[in-house]
Amino acid sequence: MKQPKTVKSLLNADCPIQNLTLSGWVRTKRDAREFSFIEVNDGSCLANIQVIAAVGIDNYATVRHITTGAAVTVQGDLIESPGKGQKWEIQAASIEIIGAAPEDYPLQKKRHSDEFLRAIAHLRPRTNKYGAVFRIRSRLSHAIHTFFQTRGFNWIHTPIITGADCEGAGEMFRVTTLDLNNVPEKNGSVDFEQDFFGKEANLTVSGQLSLETCCLSLGKVYSFGPTFRSENSNTSRHVAEFWMIEPEMAFADLDDNMDLGEELIRYLVNFARDECDDDLRLFAKFVDKSLPATLDNIADNDFIRLPYTEAIGILQKSGQNFEFKPEWGGDLQSEHERFLTERHFRQPVIVFDYPKDIKAFYMRQNDDGRTVAAMDVLVPSVGEIIGGSQREERYNQLKQRIGELGFDEADYWWYLDTRKYGSVPHCGFGLGFERLLMLLTGVSNIRDVIPFPRTPNHLEF
Ligand code: 4AD
Ligand code: MG
Repeated sequence: MKQPKTVKSLLNADCPIQNLTLSGWVRTKRDAREFSFIEVNDGSCLANIQVIAAVGIDNYATVRHITTGAAVTVQGDLIESPGKGQKWEIQAASIEIIGAAPEDYPLQKKRHSDEFLRAIAHLRPRTNKYGAVFRIRSRLSHAIHTFFQTRGFNWIHTPIITGADCEGAGEMFRVTTLDLNNVPEKNGSVDFEQDFFGKEANLTVSGQLSLETCCLSLGKVYSFGPTFRSENSNTSRHVAEFWMIEPEMAFADLDDNMDLGEELIRYLVNFARDECDDDLRLFAKFVDKSLPATLDNIADNDFIRLPYTEAIGILQKSGQNFEFKPEWGGDLQSEHERFLTERHFRQPVIVFDYPKDIKAFYMRQNDDGRTVAAMDVLVPSVGEIIGGSQREERYNQLKQRIGELGFDEADYWWYLDTRKYGSVPHCGFGLGFERLLMLLTGVSNIRDVIPFPRTPNHLEF
């Protein structure tokens, strides 16, 4: 079989091409007296290519049956388009319908609401917007690996099934092979010794603890993979299954961590602007008019670095009527984060040195006794995009914190071991991939940047 061309390669051609084959899906068709005009898209790029089928071609009878959504294969020549708006078009010699699309094909209109499209997640990639989102998703995944691989980081495949709750927040999905209609019991509670692993198991909420063990031997490591959280928060920024990028560096402190986070985000913004500009133009036009300015701002300016205590001060003096009153010791709510990054500074802000009581057990304790070396990167329209910290590398302090929080030390024996043998200052963070895509596209609901969103009460297929 002759290798078919892609729409992208044809639209970028520098000379006419004879006798080519193109396959794709029909976006629209218009019949005139002597010609039919068919817009074909094959997913290789945002644009369609126009196919002209003259009434006189061999199987013109077929052309009459082509409908929106049908899959077709076209044979013909690439010629310069006499029409406005496109350089090239295909003059068809023949067209074959590979898969018909009856009239109830749901994507007949040019524009559909996001809600409507969410309900047909199996078809929405065929729209301009979702095709663009998923192409950008793919390109950015590659860029993330390039960023780390060219900086000497090793990609570690951290486990999906784990026996540890990294964040200590208990928002985990249980993995079990026990018969839920007949759960074995021992001393009044579930007997997990009879479960598959002989102990409790869950889907990972973060690869961090596993990464730390590799960081303390390979130096610079990262993971990039699916992550699961059962937080029952139906917001536009949370999904139950998302992808997280987690770097971890040895012999590095919180400042190095902030530098890396800032460098990574700026690299990815620049990559998207340079490599995905066609697709990005769609978002700037139809989704968020301020997108180019937002991305320019990130590319051109250093991020603000702001201690948590000062952040609380700014919020308290802001005169804003927040739903949650900002108070030292409380977590920053989304409304607070967005005020800081969207209204007060109008650029990305890294808040650091949070109260230890609202942060995870593994964060390095500061000398003031009440804060830890944590950092969150906040960006306009998204809020928190990165969460990370310098890790507690001192054996005694870590052991004490595990005790204070009432965790079972036996569960963390291997983690404590890494502090016992050759421990070094180290740090890392997690970047939410979907939140990054929201930033890069201006899409305001996280459900619309992941192909198959999983949220409470929603698991279609
Ligand atoms: O701030 P988080 O919880 O940090 C950690 O999990 C650390 N263990 C990471 C590390 O230091 N290696 O999550 C990190 C990021 C958040 O800033 C957010 O971007 C994203 O992961 N995230 C979510 N994205 C979508 N849906 C959810 N439910 C998310 N929860 C966290
Ligand atoms: Mg966080």
